[in-house]
Amino acid sequence: MEMTRNVMRETTKGFSKYYNPKLSGELRLDTNTNVLGSNPAASKYLSEGKWDLNGYPNTYSDGLREALGELYDLEADNFIAGNGSDELLDVTFKTFTNWGDNSVVPVPSYSLYDYFVKCNGGKAIEVDLTEDFQLDVDAMVRQDAKVAIMPSPNNPTGNCFRTKDLEEILSRFEGIVVVDEAYGEYASDSMVRRVNEFDNLVVLRTFSKAYAMAALRVGYAVANRNLADMMMCVKIPYSLNMVSEGAAIAAVKDQDFIRRSVEMVNKERPVLDAGLRKLGFETFPSDSNFILARSPIDHDVLVKGLKERGVLIRDFGSKRRTENCVRTTIGTSEFNSFLLEKAEEVISECR
Ligand SMILES: Cc1ncc(COP(=O)(O)O)c(C=O)c1O
Repeated sequence: MEMTRNVMRETTKGFSKYYNPKLSGELRLDTNTNVLGSNPAASKYLSEGKWDLNGYPNTYSDGLREALGELYDLEADNFIAGNGSDELLDVTFKTFTNWGDNSVVPVPSYSLYDYFVKCNGGKAIEVDLTEDFQLDVDAMVRQDAKVAIMPSPNNPTGNCFRTKDLEEILSRFEGIVVVDEAYGEYASDSMVRRVNEFDNLVVLRTFSKAYAMAALRVGYAVANRNLADMMMCVKIPYSLNMVSEGAAIAAVKDQDFIRRSVEMVNKERPVLDAGLRKLGFETFPSDSNFILARSPIDHDVLVKGLKERGVLIRDFGSKRRTENCVRTTIGTSEFNSFLLEKAEEVISECR
C-alpha cells in the first residue's frame, strides 16, 4: 500500500530532517560546543546528585531563574528557562505571532529560525545581510512583521552586529526584536542587561556553547517582566528537567570556567585564522568560537575528505551567500593543528 496521505501541516511541508551525522569517533568541530570538554561544575553536581525521580521539577525552574537574576543583576522574573534555547525560540513565535504572520530573518543566519516560524504557521521574510555580513537595518524595519530575529554573534558568519544597529531596529521596528546571544559569552557586547530599557526586546542565551552542557539541553530567554510573563504562560510547564536545572545552577556559580574557555578561544582564534589563510581559505572576522571560511577547493570534497581523516566541520557551501564556505569550531591548539594538517592533505590531493 502506498503511504501518501496528504496529512502534513501546510507550512511544514517542505521540511527535511535536521543535521544528524553518522559518527565514528571523529573530532567534532561541527557544532561550536566548548572544546575544553564537559562543564566541570555541572559534572561534579551530576556525579554527587541524588534526586527524587517521582516528583516533578519546579514548574518554571525558579532556582535557575534566581541564579541567573543574581548573575546579571536582574530579577528572576526577567528570565524564562527551557529545554535548550531552541525551546525558547519556539515559545517566542508561539507567544508573539498569530497564524499567517510574517517574521523577519536575516540571511545568512541560524537555519532553525525558518523552521520555528513555519512550525508556528508563520512566514519567514528573508532579508540579506550587507556585503560585510552586517544588518540591513532599513530593509529589516520596513517589513510588515511581528517578530524580527537575529543572532549576535551571528551563526554561521561569526561576527557580532553593531549595537547601534540593534538599537535602531529596536526603536523603529513595530514588533518584537529577538537578539539570540547563543555565543554571547565570547562577545564584548550584550543586550541581556538592557532588557528593561525596551518594551520589545527578547534576548536568548544557552548553556550549550561556552557552558559546555549541550547534552543537558538548557537555555533561557531574558525580557522585561511584562514580556517574560507572557512567554512563561505559553511555555510548556516542567519542560526543563530537574537534573539539568540543578547542573545549570552549579555551572552559573563557576564563572571561572567560562573565563578560561573564552580566553582559550581568544588566544587560538588568530592562530587558526592565519593557518587557514595560509592554506588558501578566505576567512571572515569572528567574535565567536568558530570561523566561517571560503574553501580553496570544492566544499564537499573538503568536508568529506576531513571526515575520512577523522575531523568533522560544517558545510555551508551550497547555501546562498556562503557559497563554497565551511564553518569550523575553534579548537585547542592541538585540535587546530590536527585540523590544519588534515585540511592540507585533502587540499594537496586535489592539486
Ligand atoms: C544561533 C543559535 N541559536 C540557538 C541555538 C540552539 O541552542 P540550544 O542548544 O540552546 O538549543 C544554536 C545552536 O547551534 C545557535 O547556533
